[in-house]
Amino acid sequence: MARPKKTAEPRTVRVAIVGMGIGRDNGRPIHAHPRAKITALCDLAEDRMKSFAEELKTEVAFYTDYRKLCADPAIDAVCVCTPNQLHVPVALAAVEAGKHVLITKPLADSAAAATRLVAAAEKARVVNMMSLSTRFSDGALWLGELARRREFGELYYARARSIRRSGIPDWSLGFIQKGGGAFRDMGVHALDTVWWLLGRPVPRSVLGVAGAKFGPLGKGYWDFRQPPKSFWRHHAADDYAGGFIRFRNGVGLQIESFWASHQAPDFNLELFGTKAGAKLHPLTVYRTRGGAPVDEKVEIPKGPGAFTNIANHFIACILDGTPCSAPLRHGLIVQEMMEALLESARLGREVRM
Ligand SMILES: NC(=O)c1ccc[n+]([C@@H]2O[C@H](COP(=O)([O-])OP(=O)(O)OC[C@H]3O[C@@H](n4cnc5c(N)ncnc54)[C@H](O)[C@@H]3O)[C@@H](O)[C@H]2O)c1
Repeated sequence: MARPKKTAEPRTVRVAIVGMGIGRDNGRPIHAHPRAKITALCDLAEDRMKSFAEELKTEVAFYTDYRKLCADPAIDAVCVCTPNQLHVPVALAAVEAGKHVLITKPLADSAAAATRLVAAAEKARVVNMMSLSTRFSDGALWLGELARRREFGELYYARARSIRRSGIPDWSLGFIQKGGGAFRDMGVHALDTVWWLLGRPVPRSVLGVAGAKFGPLGKGYWDFRQPPKSFWRHHAADDYAGGFIRFRNGVGLQIESFWASHQAPDFNLELFGTKAGAKLHPLTVYRTRGGAPVDEKVEIPKGPGAFTNIANHFIACILDGTPCSAPLRHGLIVQEMMEALLESARLGREVRM
C-alpha cells in the first residue's frame, strides 16, 4: 500500500464535517484538538448545522452541496458522516480535490463502490482513514495491545455479535434502504474489530443467512417506537444476518448482527487463543494458571474514548506522517466480507472470496 505523500501541511488542519448526526461526535474532539479546527459544515438541514456551529462556538462556513465544499481550498480534510449510500460519492469528491478523508463506518453501500473509492484515495495519496468507534474504543485498543504482544498465543477462533431487542434506526431512511441494513450498520463494528484483533487474516470463504423479519412489518424499530408506515414501507435491507467466515490461515469466525430479536441485547467479541482467551464486555481475560482457570476482570483506567482516539490518530497521520492504523483499505476488506455474507444468504450457499 502506498504511503500517503508528505506535504507541507498547515500547522492547524482545517476540517469540514459532512452530515450532522454522528458527524458531531466525530467533530467535537477534532475541534478540541490543539492542531485542528472545524472550519466548515455540510448538511441538507441548515438548522442542524447552525446548532452544531453554536455548540462549537466558532465561525464556520455552511454548505448544503458537498461538491462545493470539496472545491473550497480553505479545507484540508473532510469527515464523511452521511448515510451509507453517500459515503463514496462525498469521499470521492473530497479525495479528487486532494483532501484527506475520515469516513464513518461502513466504508460504502457495496463492494464495488468501496473498491472505486480506495483506488481513488490511494491514487490521490491523501490520508484516508475509517472512523471506527468500536475498534478505537479503549477496551478494544487494550485487547489489541495484548494480541500484538502475543499474550493469547495463537488466536484460532472468534465470535462476534451485535444483538438488539428493538433497535432498527428510525431517524434516517438510509439505514433501511438498499445499501443499509443491520449487518452494514452494527455487524460492521463487530466484524471490523474482531478481524483487526485476529491480526487481519485474509478471508477465504463465507457462509451466511440474512433476512428481514421485523422492519418490513413496521416492528422492531428503535426503543419499541412505532414509526409511520410512510417510513417503514421503504425497508429494503436485512434486519438480521449471521454466518461463518473462514480465513486462509485456518481461523474461524462466527458473526451475528440483529437489529431486532426476541433475545437479550448484547454486543460482544470473544477471542479463543492457545494461551489465553478474552471477551470485550465485561472486559475479561481467561487464562490457565497452575492447572486452574483464572478469569481476570479488567478495569482499564478511563481513557479518552473512541472518538478522541480517532481524532488524535487522524491528525497525527496528517501532520506527523504517522502510518494510518485504520486505512480505507481495511474498510474495503471488511466490506467485501459483509457483501460476501449477504451474497451467500441470497444464493443459499458458501461464497469463496
Ligand atoms: N458509532 C459510529 O461510528 C456511528 C454511529 C451512528 C452512525 N454512524 C454512521 O453514520 C452515518 C450517518 O448515520 P447518523 O446516525 O449520523 O444519521 P443521521 O441521519 O443522524 O445523520 C446524517 C446526516 O446526513 C445528512 N445528509 C443526508 N444527505 C446529505 C447530503 N447529500 N449532503 C449533506 N448531508 C446530507 C442528513 O441531513 C443528516 O443530518 C451512517 O453511515 C452510520 O452508519 C456511525
